[in-house]
Amino acid sequence: MTHQIKTLQDYKETYQKSIQNPEAFWAEQAESFQWQKKWDKVLEWDFRNPNINWFIGGKMNITENCLDRHLETRGDQTAILWEPNDPNQPHKTYSYKELHAEVCRTANALKANGIGKGDRVCFYMPMVPELAIGVLACARIGAIHSVVFAGFSASALADRIKDATCKMVICSDYNHRGAKNIPVKKVVDDALSMDCPSIETVLVHKNTGGDIAWNSLDKWWHEEVDHQSPDCPAEQMDSEDILFILYTSGSTGKPKGVVHTCGGYMVYTCFSFKNVFQYHDNDVYWCTADIGWITGHSYIVYGPLLAGATTMMFEGVPTYPDAGRFWEVCDKHKVNQFYTAPTAIRALMAKGDKYVDKYDLSTLKVIGSVGEPINQEAWDWYNEKVGKGNSPIVDTWWQTETGGILITPLPGITDTKPCYASYPMPGIQLELVDTAGNIIEGNGVEGLLCIKYPWPSILRTTYGDHERCRQVYFSTFEDKYFTGDGARRDEEGRYRIIGRVDDVINVSGHRMGTAEVENAINEHPAVVESAVVGYPHEIKGQGIYAYVIPQDTIKDEPAFEKEVRDLVAKVIGPIAKPDQIQIVPGLPKTRSGKIMRRILRKVASGDVSQLGDISTLLNPEIVEAVKAGAKVKLVG
Ligand code: WTA
Repeated sequence: MTHQIKTLQDYKETYQKSIQNPEAFWAEQAESFQWQKKWDKVLEWDFRNPNINWFIGGKMNITENCLDRHLETRGDQTAILWEPNDPNQPHKTYSYKELHAEVCRTANALKANGIGKGDRVCFYMPMVPELAIGVLACARIGAIHSVVFAGFSASALADRIKDATCKMVICSDYNHRGAKNIPVKKVVDDALSMDCPSIETVLVHKNTGGDIAWNSLDKWWHEEVDHQSPDCPAEQMDSEDILFILYTSGSTGKPKGVVHTCGGYMVYTCFSFKNVFQYHDNDVYWCTADIGWITGHSYIVYGPLLAGATTMMFEGVPTYPDAGRFWEVCDKHKVNQFYTAPTAIRALMAKGDKYVDKYDLSTLKVIGSVGEPINQEAWDWYNEKVGKGNSPIVDTWWQTETGGILITPLPGITDTKPCYASYPMPGIQLELVDTAGNIIEGNGVEGLLCIKYPWPSILRTTYGDHERCRQVYFSTFEDKYFTGDGARRDEEGRYRIIGRVDDVINVSGHRMGTAEVENAINEHPAVVESAVVGYPHEIKGQGIYAYVIPQDTIKDEPAFEKEVRDLVAKVIGPIAKPDQIQIVPGLPKTRSGKIMRRILRKVASGDVSQLGDISTLLNPEIVEAVKAGAKVKLVG
């Protein structure tokens, strides 16, 4: 059995064990899984290359561990509990037996359509059970899934399809989202019109039954899947074969495909799920994330199913039909562990207590937060109104690249402190360094967050571009994985994440590269140059603030701003639309021509009290103009 930590003493001992002898520790965790062939060696690593291999020589299939392994002991237990967008529609359940059969049918359908081991399959789907089933079907036959969040634009989807040369796209006809129906298939059609020659099949799941255009590559999910056999042998995978690719934003323009492999990811997601959420048999666990992000991969699909849990999938949004939906669903399904993002908490908090007060939330035992720093006010509200002061909040810090939660309180075991992600998980060896790479020792200090030793679910590469992986994560500081985050370590050794120190901003818990947004804005024919920074936003955590230099005087500013916003939505997706657009005559630059983002961030945040020395700028006069046109009230 995967070790489930029970007491503070146990945590301390387990942590010590895990760093004194990481290989023995992780081998012990890995023993509890089904291996077709056991590994020869636990770990080989070199952060310089980087080259990281876990459970070397081991053969397995993650779906045997998510599904087959549970059939005897919990075949009739609910594996996936699906709650629809519309509260008046019935929810659905899949027992482990039913899920196993559906995954096998779908896997057979993929094979019948020419998909085999190593082929890439792209998903562009809403939160319907078929998305989880499809992902697992890929894993069953060794195909690599690349799930693209269904809010991205056609051109963002096309870029991801091309980067991974996907052979198939799986989508729905339409997506229910609150009161709206979103034409998902149409986005796929548009993407495929942008030169995606690798796609051989578009598998369409009928979700709403609305009208869609039908093209030569299109096939219906139900026609391909339903008649298939409910048995499909699991492909034998090497521990280090690729399980999936997931694209994420970085500080350069192009999103990168983070690669996770089978063995280590399996061991770490299961271990972290059981410990962070303290899941026990018969609990109902609900993570509100979308499977389009890493949180959905690790803590809706893989972690919970590996642990034999009942995991809920929710199709809807927190505010439909009203701001009580999350709590209504917790009450209805007697949810025990609830995991969401600070942006959702802040949005619901703003709607008032009446929506949460009317539901019975007494079954909740653990409530979690992920994706961005949770501010004190939101933490307090979550603690009092949702947790009623007796469900510990697990503020979990991690990244697409880390595969699983690395810093978190353990509920009921370690203490909690507002705004602190707190303590490292077993096996996680954190370090704070200064910009020169010197290790900052002791407590009550701040620095750049690094990790000095591999854990099983660390990324292995960025798809098709290993050098980029080395450069982004392993070259800033020698022999360390650099997270891109700054952090504080308090007097007792708890960690507080301060935020990104690179040009990545975190908008409603979604990672956004400022360069990506700039590239999109610069496509506008009337734009000469732009600079995008984050600024504090009450609900979103960070908002997107764009400074734009136009070619000529803009006559109709509101119309121009709308064009810029629409363009960004078209190039990336609505989540990347700038909240503020300021037209500027120029951008402050250093003598070597680099944009001084520090100044732009200050103006966007409204605090210009400490602008620092601007006399060395190439164009110091521009700072006054930027300040004069600021879209927020300036102090200082
Ligand atoms: C931020 C999401 C503060 C952080 C799982 C990180 C957090 C980035 C927290 C990764 C947290 C995530 N407190 N900040 N609890 N969790 N972050 O790849 O800046 O979408 O680097 O993974 O989100 O975002 P990603």
